[in-house]
Amino acid sequence: GKSVVTLDDVSTADITDLMSKARYIDSHRRQVAGTCSSRVLATLFYEPSTRTRLSFETAMLRLGGKVIGFAGAQLSSATKGETIHDTVKVVSQYADIIAMRHPKEGAALVAAQSSDVPVINAGDGGHMHPTQTLADLATIDARFGRVTDLTVGLCGDLTFGRTVHSLIETLCRFGNVRFVLISPNELKTPRYVLDRIDASPTCSYVEATDLSAVIGDLDVLYMTRVQKERFFNEDDYLRLRDTYILDEAKMRLAKPTMAVLHPLPRVNEIAAEVDNDPRAAYFEQVRNGMLMRMALESTLLGDPLPGYAQSKEVQA
Ligand code: CP
Repeated sequence: GKSVVTLDDVSTADITDLMSKARYIDSHRRQVAGTCSSRVLATLFYEPSTRTRLSFETAMLRLGGKVIGFAGAQLSSATKGETIHDTVKVVSQYADIIAMRHPKEGAALVAAQSSDVPVINAGDGGHMHPTQTLADLATIDARFGRVTDLTVGLCGDLTFGRTVHSLIETLCRFGNVRFVLISPNELKTPRYVLDRIDASPTCSYVEATDLSAVIGDLDVLYMTRVQKERFFNEDDYLRLRDTYILDEAKMRLAKPTMAVLHPLPRVNEIAAEVDNDPRAAYFEQVRNGMLMRMALESTLLGDPLPGYAQSKEVQA
């Protein structure tokens, strides 16, 4: 089966179709409730998670399937020295589809190569988080009716923030995005991600350190948490963690149509007072994450959503 290690494994036409399916699922909850009956999802989480694991699992349950797995490698035979290859090969004998999160970059690729069923990367170290990007794109699309012709600011930990790397790479494929990369000098965007922007004929970027100076230009502001778990040195983390705090005062400098996204969890980056601002989109982003995972799971399993194909014919 087809795995998703990065969103490069999914065509832009298929990403657009996933967004369309997610909207359909949202308005046809009852019709789609049996789409994946008899299917089993395995979630193998070697790193903490609230949203990603629970939304993958909820997605499968809402499609009528079942869920197995572990949250925390200490409860798996990884503690006895079992490799990712063997773990995934074994689990792929039990489950029809696997979602895996692992602290090491490249772990998802190893898993995909080891599995007899589709593997979805639920985050591999500081590298990629493709299903978060699906949630992000659905949220941008819901707010603007498009994911192109936008100025997108990404703010915070652009070095270790895997959601940032996945989102930039994918927006570059749709094109016509101007990126404003806002970070402390120590947490700038890695070269391999900047190369993707450079390789896009219609995208460009500027780097900035002062959020207030650039917030007025932005259509989308994607805030991120400083990734404590990826730092080698506690002092560096403590010095950098509160560099950017989005509050009402900064929101007054922003466009009335700007959308604020955050993959969550947040620590201090967005003051709670911003939650009531209509431009705050991060909780609808959470909901979109579940809907997009429903769309992705049913698609990778080859289980058609009842009524969806007919609804597309009616539109066409
Ligand atoms: N956005 C996200 O990946 O959250 P969790 O770490 O809680 O899964």
